[in-house]
Amino acid sequence: MDYEKISKQKAKELFDSGDIDKVEVGTFKGLAFIHTYLFGDIYDFAGIIREVNIAKGNFRFAPLMYLKASLEHIDTLPQGNFDQIIEKYVEMNIAHPFREGNGRATRIWLDLILKKELKQVIDWNLVDKDEYLSAMQRSVVKDLEIKALLKNALTNQINDRILFMKGIDVSYYYEGYSEFKTEEL
Ligand SMILES: Nc1ncnc2c1ncn2[C@@H]1O[C@H](COP(=O)(O)OP(=O)(O)OP(=O)(O)O)[C@@H](O)[C@H]1O
Ligand SMILES: [Mg+2]
Repeated sequence: MDYEKISKQKAKELFDSGDIDKVEVGTFKGLAFIHTYLFGDIYDFAGIIREVNIAKGNFRFAPLMYLKASLEHIDTLPQGNFDQIIEKYVEMNIAHPFREGNGRATRIWLDLILKKELKQVIDWNLVDKDEYLSAMQRSVVKDLEIKALLKNALTNQINDRILFMKGIDVSYYYEGYSEFKTEEL
């Protein structure tokens, strides 16, 4: 079966089963739980810290040598307001702990922090793909663009099932997967 389909089904199950409420919020442990949930049936490295260095464009994510220490540090970062939450998200993106699936798992992780701490989530339908990816590339140097872009897309609809499913579709679309609609699986 198709990888996109399988992991979107798992994303749907994460919400509908209520398992999403069991995720530890704002830690690597919580992110690894999400990653295992989405990709456990597909990748043998689901939830497991990568053992290779990875780069995208001209940016090299955290070198292996510092990755564990970096993840421990990120766990301790504050998440009491919007700016702190995005700064923490940017750090987790720089860590890029897994071989694949970082973008998709980490956006769910981000929304769970926003939901718990601010009673808001991002409406990903309002975040243009090119603007998002360019702001994320830029975020390793300066986080103003990503903060502005995501702040504009905040919504109070934190328990809206359809908004979650559509958010998954958008998040997967950013990474090149757009064949299936999560809600229909
Ligand atoms: N050059 C870059 N610099 C910093 N961050 C980036 C860069 N390119 C992509 N990102 C961020 O990393 C996320 C995932 O991209 P990437 O393809 O590297 O990871 P992945 O592990 O394959 O994730 P997924 O499988 O979910 O696509 C993007 O959504 C974006 O947030
Ligand atoms: Mg990928």
